[in-house]
Amino acid sequence: MIEFKNVSKVYPNGTRGLKNVDLRIDDGEFVVVVGLSGAGKSTFLRSINRLHEVTEGEILINDQSITAASGSDLYRIRRDIGMIFQNFNLVRRSSVMRNVLSGRVGYHSTLRMILGLFPKQDKAIAMQSLERVNLAEKTYMRADELSGGQQQRVSIARALAQEAKFILADEPVASLDPMTTKQVMDDLVYINKELNMTMVVNLHFIDVARKYATRIIGLREGEIVFDGPVEDATDEVFSNIYGKPIDEDEVLGAVK
Ligand SMILES: Nc1ncnc2c1ncn2[C@@H]1O[C@H](COP(=O)(O)OP(=O)(O)OP(=O)(O)O)[C@@H](O)[C@H]1O
Ligand SMILES: [Mg+2]
Repeated sequence: MIEFKNVSKVYPNGTRGLKNVDLRIDDGEFVVVVGLSGAGKSTFLRSINRLHEVTEGEILINDQSITAASGSDLYRIRRDIGMIFQNFNLVRRSSVMRNVLSGRVGYHSTLRMILGLFPKQDKAIAMQSLERVNLAEKTYMRADELSGGQQQRVSIARALAQEAKFILADEPVASLDPMTTKQVMDDLVYINKELNMTMVVNLHFIDVARKYATRIIGLREGEIVFDGPVEDATDEVFSNIYGKPIDEDEVLGAVK
């Protein structure tokens, strides 16, 4: 469970990132966060694993405050949170296997990791994670030899190998075409349903959001302006979130 307790964030230059966000995300939900560019989607997501520090309020992960945690507590909470980025964040010159294995880093001593000594069992976990995203045959290729969609699925496998309970994905399909978007989103749904990993995903396209979300959170200028089941997120709701009528730019149009 992820809980925001009256969370606000003001950046050092005075820009407001989040304002009085108060909500709870239960285990197994597939939450999609939408809003205009600059609405605070990344700030929201990155606050959850403390890539950004909030300036007010508290965020709890399974009843433990991540905003107050430090040292090994913070480390352990973070281990439960996998992160997926628009640009994949892979080590491009390393093998697919190496990249997925890096999801295991949180389970071992620093020294062991500097030496690159992953136990056999980790390799089995990494292999299994790659099989889950149908990339087993790419195991020993260099990450940058894969297509964008495949690279994103390697980053999903990395989160799987991490055995995270929550996955935060910041615009995971923004740099992909419609076909590949579907594959990546289907993988996330599969993981959500089969492994019960909670998903919090920032998305730009309305039709993609509608197709995959169970719950939509709409942000505008750092404030929650909509929070409800996907069925309730009508065109009107989206217009309100965006502060303008929906235009074609917000619809990908190919994810049926
Ligand atoms: N490091 C920073 N310093 C100052 N202001 C920032 C910083 N990062 C983000 N902001 C501001 O905070 C607000 C929210 O930004 P955020 O990146 O969360 O938006 P977003 O919804 O993710 O936008 P996009 O769709 O473009 O990714 C914006 O006004 C942005 O300019
Ligand atoms: Mg963003």
